[in-house]
Amino acid sequence: MSSYAITGASKGIGREFVRQLAADSTNTVLAIVRNPKSADISDLASKHSNVHIIKGDVTDPKSILEAAAAAAAITDGKLDVLIHNSNAVDKDSMASTPSQLPFDAQAIQNIFSPSLNTAIYGGIWATNAFLPLIEKGAQKKIVHISSGMADVDLINKAGVSSGVAYSIAKAGLNVTVAKYAAELAPRGIKVLALSPGWVDTWDGEKPAEVVYANELLLKMFQLVEPELKGQIQPEESVKKCLQVIENLNAGSSGSFVSHNGDRSRWF
Ligand SMILES: NC(=O)c1ccc[n+]([C@@H]2O[C@H](COP(=O)([O-])OP(=O)(O)OC[C@H]3O[C@@H](n4cnc5c(N)ncnc54)[C@H](OP(=O)(O)O)[C@@H]3O)[C@@H](O)[C@H]2O)c1
Repeated sequence: MSSYAITGASKGIGREFVRQLAADSTNTVLAIVRNPKSADISDLASKHSNVHIIKGDVTDPKSILEAAAAAAAITDGKLDVLIHNSNAVDKDSMASTPSQLPFDAQAIQNIFSPSLNTAIYGGIWATNAFLPLIEKGAQKKIVHISSGMADVDLINKAGVSSGVAYSIAKAGLNVTVAKYAAELAPRGIKVLALSPGWVDTWDGEKPAEVVYANELLLKMFQLVEPELKGQIQPEESVKKCLQVIENLNAGSSGSFVSHNGDRSRWF
């Protein structure tokens, strides 16, 4: 009998959160999407009466405040768990290393903006919009989906120099989580940064450059975990993430962990 709101729910890991949570008919699941007409999420909602699609974009303060108001109307003003899962990157610069970034103020902003808008500003706006509902909820949990790519030990051991803006934004998100945890502890609210693992969320056949990039990443990640074979599926990732969310308590609030529940097993 719990209520969950998931941002970025149209596809991939966000949609899988909705699917697994909806399987328990006593849950109320709020799928927050930028486009409520998106076929994947509306198909899922049509099969589960406990799934409610709400329009909301974390990068737009007005939009996410309206989403929180729509959520409150469904749940009587309460929410147990918020999962901020939205993410965007500038795809063209994902392969660039720090020394390759341009000496051009507008160009570098264009590279960082999608990641900062979703992870940092979006994380803050989504949290602040839903905070009044979370305060009235029973579980009082706020989870931000981060990435192992923001873990300094993993970067150093695997030697991953690319994905600069993405990794920096997620590292900033981890600090945001610690700040919220410090502020909200007296109100019984727990906050977590959670990496979902390395997950295959590509829709359809992967283009050659994506296959190549994944092969490069696999070789780097195998320096940390020699047995690693490749990406996991969203089903496995979300099952483990939900277990970590279940275990979140005042003692672990403010931390950054993987889907395996610790800060050493990122895959
Ligand atoms: N896949 C992995 O291997 C992996 C690894 C580590 C961490 N993660 C993190 O896990 C989360 C889910 O990853 P994913 O691979 O399933 O999906 P993703 O492609 O990173 O996107 C997640 C969702 O973000 C929303 N979104 C996309 N562009 C946006 C924009 N410009 N403004 C606002 N929202 C936008 C979309 O949802 P709507 O259209 O519904 O708004 C989309 O479904 C992300 O936070 C990602 O960084 C993934």
